[in-house]
Order: sequence, then C-alpha cells, then structure tokens
Amino acid sequence: MEPKTRRVAVAGRPGGPEVIETVTEDLPPLGPGQVLVRVAATGLNHADSLIRGGDYVVTMPFPLAVGVEAAGTVIATGEGVAAEVGARVCGTGWLGSCADHVVVPEERLVPIPDGLGFEEAASVAHAGAAAGALLRVWPLDGARAVVWGAAGAVGRLLVTWLSRKGAEVIGVAGGSRVAIPRDLGAKHVIDRDAGDVAAAVRAVTGGRGADVIFDPVAGETFRTSLAMLAPRGCLINYGQLTGPVGAEFGELFKAGGVFVTKFNAGAYVDGYADVAALIREALELAVAQPGVAGPIAGRFPLDRAADAFRALESGARGKVLVVPGPEES
Ligand SMILES: NC(=O)c1ccc[n+]([C@@H]2O[C@H](COP(=O)([O-])OP(=O)(O)OC[C@H]3O[C@@H](n4cnc5c(N)ncnc54)[C@H](OP(=O)(O)O)[C@@H]3O)[C@@H](O)[C@H]2O)c1
Repeated sequence: MEPKTRRVAVAGRPGGPEVIETVTEDLPPLGPGQVLVRVAATGLNHADSLIRGGDYVVTMPFPLAVGVEAAGTVIATGEGVAAEVGARVCGTGWLGSCADHVVVPEERLVPIPDGLGFEEAASVAHAGAAAGALLRVWPLDGARAVVWGAAGAVGRLLVTWLSRKGAEVIGVAGGSRVAIPRDLGAKHVIDRDAGDVAAAVRAVTGGRGADVIFDPVAGETFRTSLAMLAPRGCLINYGQLTGPVGAEFGELFKAGGVFVTKFNAGAYVDGYADVAALIREALELAVAQPGVAGPIAGRFPLDRAADAFRALESGARGKVLVVPGPEES
C-alpha cells in the first residue's frame, strides 16, 4: 500500500553532521509527472556535505532534506507518467534522497540495467553524471590525461571512460590503491604517497607534461597540477576535497599559458534527459567492467544518517551508503 508518511534525514540548519536528524514527514499526493520511489540505497556525496555546510557555491534553503542520489523501486506514479510500478531505478538530483521514500520527477529516473544491484547503482549514478559531463570539457583523443583521485568514485569512471576514448591515462592514487586505475585501463599509475607527482608525470610524458588534468582536490594539488601541465594544457578542477584555491593570474603564464577551469556540470549538459543518458552510459560501463562501481566503505541505517556523513567526511575510501532497510521501507 502507498505510504502516507516517510522517514527522512533533515539538516535543521547549516553545519556539520550533528545538525542532521531523521524525522517523519507527510508525503503529499503525487503531482503530474511525479513518481514515488521506495529507496533501497542512498549514495552519499561530498556535495551533500558542502551544501549542508552552508558556505558552498551551491546554496539551498534550510531545513534541508539531505541527499541527491539513490536507487530503489517505483511504487506509485502520478498523472501522465510512463514509468511502471515495480521498475528498478536510480538517479541524481533526487532532492531529499536520504530517506525511505522519495518523490522524483519522472525525467530524473534512470532504469537500472540487469546485472547491477541497487547499491552499485546508488554508487555510480551521481559520479557517472559528473564523469560524463567532465569528458566534454577538453579535446581528449590522444591526449595525455592525468586523473587525480583515480581510485575514487568519479576517478574510476574517468579512467575507464577516458581509456576507452583513446586518451593516454595517468592515474594518481594513494599507496596500493594504484592497482585500481591500473586494472581499469590507465596506461601509467602514480602513487601520490611515494614522492613528487609532478616529476613522475613529467617522466612518463617524456618531459612534456599532461595535456589535461582532472582534479577533485583543489587546495593541496593545485600547484602540483600547474607544475605537470604541458604548455597550453588544461587543468579541470571539479571538487575541493582539501579546500579552495588561492592563485595569481601570473602563475598561469609561468606554467606555460595554461587553462584552468572550475567545472560546472550544468554548463555541459542539456537538461535532465541528457544527464539521464550520461548515467545510463555509466551504468553500462559498470556492468561491462568490474571495478567501476567500486567498494562499499560503509552501510548505515537511516536513523544513523549523521554517522554515515561522519564516515564520508573523515575520508572513507569507497562509497558510503544509507540503507533504509526492510523495517523502514
Ligand atoms: N558535478 C560535480 O561537479 C561533481 C560530481 C561528483 C563529485 N564531485 C566532486 O568530485 C570529488 C570526488 O568525488 P568522489 O565521489 O569521486 O570522491 P571519492 O570517491 O571520495 O574519491 C576522492 C579521491 O580523492 C583522493 N584524495 C583525497 N584527498 C586527496 C589529496 N589530498 N590529494 C590527492 N588525492 C586525494 C582519494 O584517493 P587516494 O587517497 O587514493 O588518492 C579519494 O579516493 C569531490 O570533491 C566531489 O565534490 C563533483
């Protein structure tokens, strides 16, 4: 039977994980084009934490129902919806997805292909949309492309996709995690714990440097990235795992007239149908190539959503999921 209420993780005010509480709220009747999804797994993302912190470039009103990514089953549909009850779906842009049920516009649903479970789909959807859009930023055919965080969620997709598109991929990861980009097709891997990453990139590119660098780290890696770019190369920053960058224009001159962009996914996609197509392609990659979906670092029940975010924000390696569980669904 269709539920009248849902359990959802809500941040009452901007702040750390301590502002998150799991509450019960009414589910309004579905409007035209809306779908009710019973959530099997919610994927947590660094953007959730940045938005909840309240001082990010993307802002949302509080109280804020947290989460944007999930996978689950369609259990009810509004007027004019073609999706069928029982369909297995996933996606991103599902606002308030850290819940046992979420109402989603139909255009934001992506079918989960056979061969992929809910947890894998909830690990790939958001990263897949980002990685797919990132591939549109700079010419890639034959490019020497560095991927920082190559063992992370977006990084694994970038390594796999770039390798298949004919780029020469140089994957950077910490310690034994270099095995992950190597298995996904990177031509070279660099252990960032083992020494000078810029020198290592220069060494594998015959001294020239990289044509393009994908960097989710920002603060700690920015100058290393400048030091390993080829003349007129491009640094694409798409996250700030170690805080923002403070830089002078003149540094770009000294690095060889290089380009630096702060990636905005919205500037590279044409509406949700396009986002859904990117996610579909990423899910197919995850079916075809073991290791794309990556390990699960932790599963937390919905009532412990705050602990799930603590795990994410303390540097979990692998996807952190909130799993509402049968008693709550
Ligand atoms: N639309 C978008 O713009 C969009 C969408 C999705 C994600 N993002 C951003 O992309 C970034 C990555 O997201 P994700 O989900 O892939 O995260 P993730 O799975 O946690 O991976 C991040 C990776 O970065 C590496 N790393 C961490 N600190 C580092 C440091 N100081 N120096 C170098 N490498 C470091 C870690 O690997 P090693 O320790 O192995 O190096 C880690 O695996 C986040 O900043 C997120 O906000 C943006």
